[in-house]
Amino acid sequence: MDFIDSVRQLEERLARPSLQDIEVMRRLRGDIAILGAGGKMGPSLARRVKRASDAAGVARRVIAASRFSDPQIATELQRTGIETFRCDLLRRDEVSPLPLCENVLFLPGRKFGSTDRPDLTWAINTVVPANVATHFRDSRMVVFSTGNVYPLVTTGGKGSVETDDPGPVGEYAQSCLARERVFEFYAHEQGTRCLLFRLNYAIDLRYGVLVDIARKVHAGEPIDLTVSWFNTVWQGDADSYALRGLELCDSPPRILNVTGPEKISVRKVAQFFGRAFGCEPVLMGNDCGRALLSDASLCERLLGPPEIDLDTLLHWVAHWVEIGAPTLGKPTRFEVADGRF
Ligand SMILES: NC(=O)c1ccc[n+]([C@@H]2O[C@H](COP(=O)([O-])OP(=O)(O)OC[C@H]3O[C@@H](n4cnc5c(N)ncnc54)[C@H](OP(=O)(O)O)[C@@H]3O)[C@@H](O)[C@H]2O)c1
Repeated sequence: MDFIDSVRQLEERLARPSLQDIEVMRRLRGDIAILGAGGKMGPSLARRVKRASDAAGVARRVIAASRFSDPQIATELQRTGIETFRCDLLRRDEVSPLPLCENVLFLPGRKFGSTDRPDLTWAINTVVPANVATHFRDSRMVVFSTGNVYPLVTTGGKGSVETDDPGPVGEYAQSCLARERVFEFYAHEQGTRCLLFRLNYAIDLRYGVLVDIARKVHAGEPIDLTVSWFNTVWQGDADSYALRGLELCDSPPRILNVTGPEKISVRKVAQFFGRAFGCEPVLMGNDCGRALLSDASLCERLLGPPEIDLDTLLHWVAHWVEIGAPTLGKPTRFEVADGRF
């Protein structure tokens, strides 16, 4: 197995386009904007889009817009030939100068801190979509959403499917459903083509549920089993699905669950990391019998299975934590059952 030993290697691996990515970038017409590009997923997604377009031999503008709270991210993107725009998408006057692109990958959102400033969460998850959908009315838009728009489901089944009714628990999840509804509204009113991209737990070695569990096992900290099943997907695969999802945009919007094919047990994963680190995981709490689980069969049928499987991910994460490589210090809080983030 080829392990990943450094942030440089990790960044390269995340942004390395697949043959299918390159094919889609060859077929697709027009420039591409990545909005909310300054967070955990945006930089690798923007670089993958740029590399796939270059490999396809297509000349197009790849534009990344964000507040860039960390200006270093913008500098690094510029170095790879990506144009950056610093803007607050909550402000209409800062959205209107953005160049119109045929293709938009929409990533802005707010989750953590939602209990302290619910007003801000609702504004970012609804006002930003309205500003963007009116400005980019003729674009195709992959709208990042979340599996949190579904209710918690019993852990015996395969998870929620796209045709299930939403049932968001808590204000963060409700505001995410509102984000979808705003785009749906503009799709109906303006014919804007969207894909509602319901993602569950991406993982890039610096963050993700597997990293949360591995770090706790390594540190001898207890692992909460209240929500004891989850789904996850390699961030590189999530980026690839998003990029290729541009070809699936439609009006009214199409919905797609995006995650790995497995329903994963917290207990089994903790035991795996325990064996890897030579220690006994500390497990606590009782399984509430419900979890946030999505069935990604449709994604697999339309776009194929993820390139990186769960076994590889588990070994990559174990190695990353074992060598003390950096993490973002942003726990997913997968154990939250009441929707309060
Ligand atoms: N990562 C996951 O596992 C996961 C799972 C489910 C759903 N999602 C959804 O997928 C999307 C991307 O995920 P992510 O992990 O990259 O999220 P993230 O780390 O929260 O990144 C989103 C970025 O959007 C930018 N942004 C927020 N408000 C903005 C505003 N008013 N104007 C301009 N930019 C703004 C921020 O960067 P700046 O500070 O640079 O502006 C922020 O870092 C999010 O909507 C998230 O909810 C992610």
